[in-house]
Amino acid sequence: MLVRAITPNPAYEFAEEVRAGLTKPGQKELPSKYLYDDIGSALFEVISHLPEYGLTRADDRLLRRHAQDIIDRVPGPVVVAELGSGSGRKTRWLLEALARRQRTFYHPIEISRAALIRCQQELRDLESVSILGFEREYLDGLLEIAAHRKRGQRLLVLFLGSTIGNFDRDAGIEFLASIRRILHTGDSLLLGTDLEKPAYQLIAAYDDDLGVTAAFNLNLLARINRELDADFNVGQFVHEARLNEQARSVEMHLRSTRAQRVAIPIADLTVDFEEGETIWTESSHKYSAEEIFDMAGYADFRCDAQWIDSEWPFAENLLIAE
Ligand code: AVJ
Repeated sequence: MLVRAITPNPAYEFAEEVRAGLTKPGQKELPSKYLYDDIGSALFEVISHLPEYGLTRADDRLLRRHAQDIIDRVPGPVVVAELGSGSGRKTRWLLEALARRQRTFYHPIEISRAALIRCQQELRDLESVSILGFEREYLDGLLEIAAHRKRGQRLLVLFLGSTIGNFDRDAGIEFLASIRRILHTGDSLLLGTDLEKPAYQLIAAYDDDLGVTAAFNLNLLARINRELDADFNVGQFVHEARLNEQARSVEMHLRSTRAQRVAIPIADLTVDFEEGETIWTESSHKYSAEEIFDMAGYADFRCDAQWIDSEWPFAENLLIAE
């Protein structure tokens, strides 16, 4: 595996974004991508095994059951690029199906180096699959992979696990359009989307009994302490999951349990919190099966097929670049 030497998230960029988010007038916020350092990625991996969080298992079931059908719909030869591979477990089914047809090149793109290495370990037994990982932001990695493809090769981009749900609805469509601009007509995008479900189920999924999601969320403050030399007292913040009915999303917040001041030297910043004030750290948007067809259209894709899990409402959507 090739893991590039250029540091993808230099400390100053992190510091800049922390500063921008925590000095925003009104609601303070932090970008959700920073939840996924090595510790955060490991905690998310645990979340995906929790009984309350059915999302990853639904994604995995759909890919396992329909891998052959999905692969039959993307004519080859195909190079596979995955945005945010995570552990790589659920990608196995697709790669196995594709490898029955052709020698397969698989490029996971990850901002967590540890997740990238785990993914390669997980899939190393796959025969006739070559893995070359990129420690990069999604679109940077995809641009590089697209630039190196050979004549006649098509790209199959995987964007699984409803990671798109972290974007606001409009930004999600804009992100799909950015992917589309890197692709050629006839390339494809397999998009996983979590579907709307009852409130109690959503809240339980994002505020589990064991407190793993709480740890995942609080790790962001611990990370700022580790990397930006800040003095967050992590014990004086609590995890909160709330529904945003308007946005059709679940929001994660970190609530300050008292008035306090925090110093973040590397961001050249001191921040004051009121008692009860929150930092908004993540949104997970939920979709209707039908709206995916419209989203695809706005981004210049056609939704060719959709598979829905019957146990946990979740959809795999095969989008073809028009
Ligand atoms: C990995 C972005 C799909 O939004 O459900 C899980 C992240 N956050 N529990 C999601 C997450 C809290 C997850 N995604």
